[in-house]
Amino acid sequence: MQKIFAANWKMHKTRAEAGQCSASLANALGAGTTASGALVLVFAPFTCIDVVAGAFAEVPFLACGGQDCYPAAEGAFTGEISPTMLADVGATWVLTGHSERRHVLGEDDALVARKTTFALEQGLNVMLCIGETLEERENGQLCDVLERQLTSVFDAMPDILRGNALAGRFAVAYEPVWAIGTGKVAGQAEVLDAHATVRTLLQKLVGATAVDLPILYGGSVKPTNAAGLMSLDNVDGLLVGGASLDAQSFLQIIGA
Ligand code: PGA
Repeated sequence: MQKIFAANWKMHKTRAEAGQCSASLANALGAGTTASGALVLVFAPFTCIDVVAGAFAEVPFLACGGQDCYPAAEGAFTGEISPTMLADVGATWVLTGHSERRHVLGEDDALVARKTTFALEQGLNVMLCIGETLEERENGQLCDVLERQLTSVFDAMPDILRGNALAGRFAVAYEPVWAIGTGKVAGQAEVLDAHATVRTLLQKLVGATAVDLPILYGGSVKPTNAAGLMSLDNVDGLLVGGASLDAQSFLQIIGA
């Protein structure tokens, strides 16, 4: 399966900064073999998507995405953005269900499911983020949380989007909430266990085609731990926040 290295810039970077960083990535990756076959994504702030997409235009395995979208084509939704608007400025991917959307901005499973399904229907590729809080993990609820978060999305998904139709268009990012931005990366045994659980749940939900759906790990990924994480079974890529803001550091992660 094609590996995916994804940067989540969150609420960072002006257009000028985004232009510099994406040009550095495009120059380094477009020239060399660092990424050798991997897909590299940058989830940029809405205001920078056109800049990043422009810088990536010549390199086929580089793409830009939005960090969120609203599940409607248009309408009276002040402050929201539609999948079509994201595509209009050059995004081909969108993140849904990021833990900061769920836990800071109060999105529930039902809204995440609507966003995921609608974005897919509108032609965007989707990276769905799931993961447990520390409290949920300590209460032994890891599997239940992952099952609830995944099932709510697939229950909302029309049959036409399932199975083969998802290949190349859908990825899951497992991000334990307690590991995001904290410097506390999950241990290898924890990552192995969670990713195996996600794979099994996907098999239950979409059948045999689940083997083609990439599962990324996210949460305090750094150049120093990237290779170890990528060596684990069912880890098909990495979603990187803080360490992706600097082009050199993100390039080191991709190279690892
Ligand atoms: P982090 O963020 O790498 O800074 O922990 C990851 C994420 O939120 O996707």
